[in-house]
Amino acid sequence: MDRILIAGNWKMNKDAKGTIDFAKKIKKYSFNEGDEVCLIPPFTDLKILKDELDGTNIKIGAQNCHFEDNGAYTGEISSEMLKEIGVEFCIVGHSERREYFGETDKSCNKKIIKLLEKGITPILCVGEKEDIREAGAEQSLISKQLGEAFIGIKQADVPKVIIAYEPIWAIGTGKTATPEQAQEMSAFIRGFMSGLFSEAIGECMMILYGGSVKPENARDILRQRDINGALVGGASLDPKSLYELVKISADLKK
Ligand code: 13P
Repeated sequence: MDRILIAGNWKMNKDAKGTIDFAKKIKKYSFNEGDEVCLIPPFTDLKILKDELDGTNIKIGAQNCHFEDNGAYTGEISSEMLKEIGVEFCIVGHSERREYFGETDKSCNKKIIKLLEKGITPILCVGEKEDIREAGAEQSLISKQLGEAFIGIKQADVPKVIIAYEPIWAIGTGKTATPEQAQEMSAFIRGFMSGLFSEAIGECMMILYGGSVKPENARDILRQRDINGALVGGASLDPKSLYELVKISADLKK
């Protein structure tokens, strides 16, 4: 695999002090120029992290955004505001936002369109709950999530979107998908995108796996043909384990 991205989703964790502490520790490790790393802290830590990581090749991402530039949307943050502080990635449709905050495929679509307009890379999350998998309906659910999220996206923009396959049953549970399950679904996603747009587009999509990824299981997941990286929750909160994940990626790219 020529590209492997390690994206750390901190969710609602770390205050300013914790963020500065993390940044100071992660800067002590040496990264290669080709390492692709992105940290996705809470909104309040974005600027702090951006400033602390200045001069490194670690990028920053946001966990959500609104699909308008500004206006009467109390409590929301726009992609325009994110762009202003140097955010390069933004998660769209994380399962926690879908489940607790009413995120829909339609709102994901609007956010992707707006983020692309601003030049921010959307990381679209898709994935199924355990009962859907038990019913053998995971591929049809993911087809629906992808189909709706990509409505009206120009062909040339499609490969700018990163897709993260995160089976909900594997998030924060310690119960990771097997490398075979993760590969099977990533190959399915690639094939679906080929069908929706073209084989060339399907082939160049970046597809991440997320769900209890940690240094102990990352190698077997990241070496799969159709997996281009990981969206990591818990393990990205610790500088050492984040660094280990980046080193595993660098090894696999050799
Ligand atoms: P965990 O790695 O903690 O399971 O979280 C995965 C996730 O939801 C990343 O977005």
